Order: sequence, then C-alpha cells, then structure tokens
Amino acid sequence: MAVPVIAIDGPSASGKGTIAQRVADALGFHYLDSGALYRLTALAASRQGIHWDDEHGVAAVAHALDVRFAGEHIYLAGDDVSHMIRSETIGVGASQVAALPLVRAALLERQRAFAQAPGLVADGRDMGSVVFPQAPLKVFLTATAEVRAERRYKQLIGRGENADLAAITADLEARDARDRARSVAPLRQLPDAHLLETSALGIEAAVGQVLQWWHANAA
Ligand code: CDP
Ligand code: CDP
Repeated sequence: MAVPVIAIDGPSASGKGTIAQRVADALGFHYLDSGALYRLTALAASRQGIHWDDEHGVAAVAHALDVRFAGEHIYLAGDDVSHMIRSETIGVGASQVAALPLVRAALLERQRAFAQAPGLVADGRDMGSVVFPQAPLKVFLTATAEVRAERRYKQLIGRGENADLAAITADLEARDARDRARSVAPLRQLPDAHLLETSALGIEAAVGQVLQWWHANAA
C-alpha cells in the first residue's frame, strides 16, 4: 500500500512549516520541508559562485546537494545552515532557482524519498500538484499578504535579526508573484485541496482542522 501523504501548499509565511510539523508530530509521521531544499540549493550555488539564473549550473548543484536534516537542524556539506537559509535574501534566491525546470527535476526524487511509513506531511508549493499528486489529503494554506508579512517580521525580530516591515512586504509579494506566475509547478489552489484561510486563525485551530480532515478522510 502507498505511504499516506498530507500535502500542504501555500504562499510564503502562511504557516505551512509550523502547521505541517505539528500535524506530523500529532500523527507520528515524517515531515518534509521542501522549501528548505530550494533554499539550500540557492545557498550552495552562491557559495560555489554559480549565478541563480544559470539553469544547468544550479541544477548540477541541486543534484549533488549534500544535505542532512536532523530535527530542527539542517546541514549543508556538514555545516549547520539552519539559520542562514531562513534569510529573506536566500528566500528570494530560492524562488529564482525554483523557477528553473531542470532544478525542480533535480529535486523531485529526493523529495519523494521522504514518503516513508507510517506517513508523511509535506509542505511547499507543488506538493499536491507535482510531487505527491496521489496524496489523500491536500490543503491550501493561506492568509492575507498583510498578515503574512507581519508574521515574517515578528519571526525575524524574535530571532534577533534586523527587519523592515516594508521591505519584507515587498519581498514577499514579489516572491509570491514569481511563484504563481512561473510556467513550471506554479503555486495555485488545486480543485481537490481544502482551503484553510488562517488570517484570523491561530496555530492550534489550524492544526486541529487539518487533523479533523485527515481523520474524516480515513474514516
Ligand atoms: O512555512 P511558512 O513560510 O508558510 O510559515 P511558518 O514559518 O510556518 O510561519 C510563519 C510565522 O507565522 C511563524 O512564526 C508562525 O508561528 C506564525 N503563524 C501564526 O502566527 N499563526 C498561524 N496561524 C500560522 C503561523
Ligand atoms: O518559508 P516560505 O514559505 O517563505 O518559503 P519556503 O517554503 O521555504 O520556500 C522558499 C521558496 O522556494 C519559495 O518562494 C518557492 O519559490 C520555492 N519552493 C518551490 O518552488 N516549491 C516548493 N515545493 C517549495 C518551495
């Protein structure tokens, strides 16, 4: 029997990572942060002096990516880059390399390999459309751009980083526009995905809703 997958897609700072991780913990499932793979690819390329628009060069980097996920920590070639990959600069780089078809192809099987028993919760932009189209539960998580920019701002301030709300809003809107407009695996709400609008919904309530859909699905 195929390993069950819960696919959670949505725009930047909609809460995908937080909610997907908690749903995975509640169910004892594995968790895939697919955005981290694009972020790692962008970081690895820039460390090797490869431009983010060099499709063949970046795809080679993605193929060879030496990455290890260990709980909250992410290692690139043995180096703990957990904080570094969360910067908005790397987020912008991730969305640039993610628009390149060869880069997406290079990361496809690596993502599918996360689907292991007893199940997987995967978050990103194309989990339900491309990577796990057979997922029995698909969720499209969203919130207004204002709320999402505010969340990202608070997250950066909480980490002791400098943050400018206007710059974050502009970056986030540009990144969302690029993710929605690209020709390959664009961000969109699938007809078979449940919509979860979280502008006025707390984390616990959002997690509860996904678990309710999951249990209703399995019933
Ligand atoms: O993974 P994604 O970029 O979609 O978002 P995230 O990193 O999981 O969430 C961004 C921030 O929003 C985190 O600090 C969450 O704790 C917060 N959040 C929230 O305040 N309310 C929600 N319903 C969801 C997330
Ligand atoms: O945390 P946030 O939602 O801002 O971003 P992320 O999920 O870490 O993804 C960073 C970038 O990688 C996104 O802006 C997308 O361009 C790209 N991405 C993608 O194209 N497909 C995925 N499955 C996941 C991320």
